[in-house]
This record gives sequence, C-alpha cells and structure tokens, in this order.
Amino acid sequence: MRILFCVFSGTGNTTKVAGEIATRLDALGHETDVRMIGGGAIDPSRADVVVFCYPVHAFNAPRPMLNFIKSLGRLDGKRAYIVHTSGEALKLNDAAGITPRRLLKKRGYSVLGEYTFVMPYNIIFRHSDEMAARMWQSAQRRATSVASDIASLNKRKIKVNAFKRAVSFTLKIEHVAMPKIGKRFTTLSDCSGCGRCASLCPVGNIVMERGKPKFGAGCAGCMACSFGCPHDAVRISLLNGWRVNGRYTFEGRPASDDEVCSYCRKSYIRYFKENEE
Ligand SMILES: Cc1cc2nc3c(=O)[nH]c(=O)nc-3n(C[C@H](O)[C@H](O)[C@H](O)COP(=O)(O)O)c2cc1C
Ligand code: SF4
Ligand code: SF4
Repeated sequence: MRILFCVFSGTGNTTKVAGEIATRLDALGHETDVRMIGGGAIDPSRADVVVFCYPVHAFNAPRPMLNFIKSLGRLDGKRAYIVHTSGEALKLNDAAGITPRRLLKKRGYSVLGEYTFVMPYNIIFRHSDEMAARMWQSAQRRATSVASDIASLNKRKIKVNAFKRAVSFTLKIEHVAMPKIGKRFTTLSDCSGCGRCASLCPVGNIVMERGKPKFGAGCAGCMACSFGCPHDAVRISLLNGWRVNGRYTFEGRPASDDEVCSYCRKSYIRYFKENEE
C-alpha cells in the first residue's frame, strides 16, 4: 500500500513518532511518504491510506492541521488514521481528534483509527531525561502495534463523551488567543541574531529584521522558536512561566516507576504499563 503521512510538528515529537511508524510500515513492504504540512503541496489522492499526525494543543488539534484538512478536496472512502502526541497521558487528550474526524468525514474520508503517543512536554515544564527515555521506549513499542493496525486496515475508534466534547469546544479559544499572545513574543539581549527561530517556525510567523526576530500575527503556539533557541532568548509573553527550552535526547536510562513525575503520575504509569505488556 502507499501510505502518506501528513505531519504538523512544532518541536519534533510528532515527526519522530510518525517516522517510527513509517519505518515499521516500510519494513512490512509498504511504500511510505512522510510530508510536513506547510512544506509544499500534498496530494492524498494517490495514497491508499492517509495518516494525519499532530501534537495535542489545549485538548485540540493545532490550527495549521485543521486548516490543512479544510484545504483538502473530497475523496470519498479514502482511508485515514489519526496519530497525535501529547505531554500528558490523560484520556481527555482523546478530545483532540473530535474536530479533525468531523472535518475529514465531511470530505468523504473514512477514519479507521486514532492513537495517542505520550511524548515529553514542550511547554508547562520540562520532563526529566529519564521520563523522556521511558516515553520513547513506550512510543517505539506502540509504533509497532500502530503500524500493524494500519497495515491490516484494522479499526480502532476512541470513545468521546459529552465532557470531552465540551472541553474540546471550550479550549478552541486557544486558536484565537495564540496569534495575539504570539504577537507579543520578545527576545532578550542574549539573542545572537542567528535566525534559527525564523527557520524553525512552521508557519513562517517570524521574520528577521535588522538581525533580530520579529513575531507576526499568525502564531500557532507550537513553541518551536522558544524550544529551539540556542540561547534560550525567546520570551513567550503570558505563557513565559511555562517556557521549555532545549531538545530532549531520548537517550539514557528510562525512569523507573518510582521516578515517574508526581504530576499525573497514575496516568503515566498506566500508559507505560499498557505499552510494556
Ligand atoms: C500550546 C500547547 C498546548 C498544549 N496542550 C496540551 C494538552 O492539552 N495536552 C497535552 O497532553 N499536551 C499538550 N501540549 C504538549 C504537546 O502536545 C506535546 O509536548 C507534543 O508531543 C509536542 O509535539 P511536537 O514536538 O510535535 O510539537 C501542548 C503544547 C503546546 C505547545
Ligand atoms: S534562535 Fe534565539 S538567538 Fe537565534 S535569532 Fe532566534 S531568538 Fe535570537
Ligand atoms: S512564532 Fe514560535 S510558537 Fe508561534 S508558530 Fe512560530 S515557532 Fe511556533
């Protein structure tokens, strides 16, 4: 089968997960194509299966992913899967598939399954390296079972209740708020003018002016700029207390159960065990 991955990712977690699933599908003899949305035209018509991959943003899909889906033409019966990555292992993150599923259905797509991968936070707080390593260990195992589901066109639906719908609906406010917050991002004098933030921004919202980044009004809140700045010089306005800077290595010793962070501890342990069984 020809399997097309349409990926939106701010800080690389979703790209890493999509790549891992694609590698397994390649090994099973399928032809995969991993494409970043915003990086040129993507035509799903030739694919047998389309996999939509994105990070959870405020229990929703990020605005660029919704805009991408809205831009697609009708393809009746086109088989699709949804893969999202989230920083928490809460079931509430299932709400992030509600709007993409509705939009895809409207365009004739048949969404066969939806999966969440828990990956380290790029906002709120920095997970320990050990937590990141255990998440990656889980993700690799999960990628094997997700690839096998996709290869067999298995169906796996996520149940959403009225509470998840209400949370998803209410927090869509993030799509309106983020461009306003992002317009107020600033940089410290430590900024070297290297332009990395501008090249990392997946929506082209940063331009370099007289050697300094200028933030526009189209921020998608992906945190690529503040996470990827080599001098931790980006300040993210109202959200600055939640800023996380610097890539995770995903290497080293995975956290033991005792080392799992106290925040949402039970749900992380449940998720790890689920993948380790
Ligand atoms: C604006 C914003 C909102 C987020 N909201 C959630 C959330 O509601 N639930 C969650 O578990 N993680 C949330 N996260 C964390 C990311 O989903 C997580 O770190 C993800 O793996 C990042 O993927 P990426 O590296 O592909 O951008 C949020 C991150 C950002 C930047
Ligand atoms: S990545 Fe950091 S140092 Fe480089 S231009 Fe952007 S803010 Fe300045
Ligand atoms: S300005 Fe920063 S947070 Fe906003 S979309 Fe660009 S890289 Fe992401």
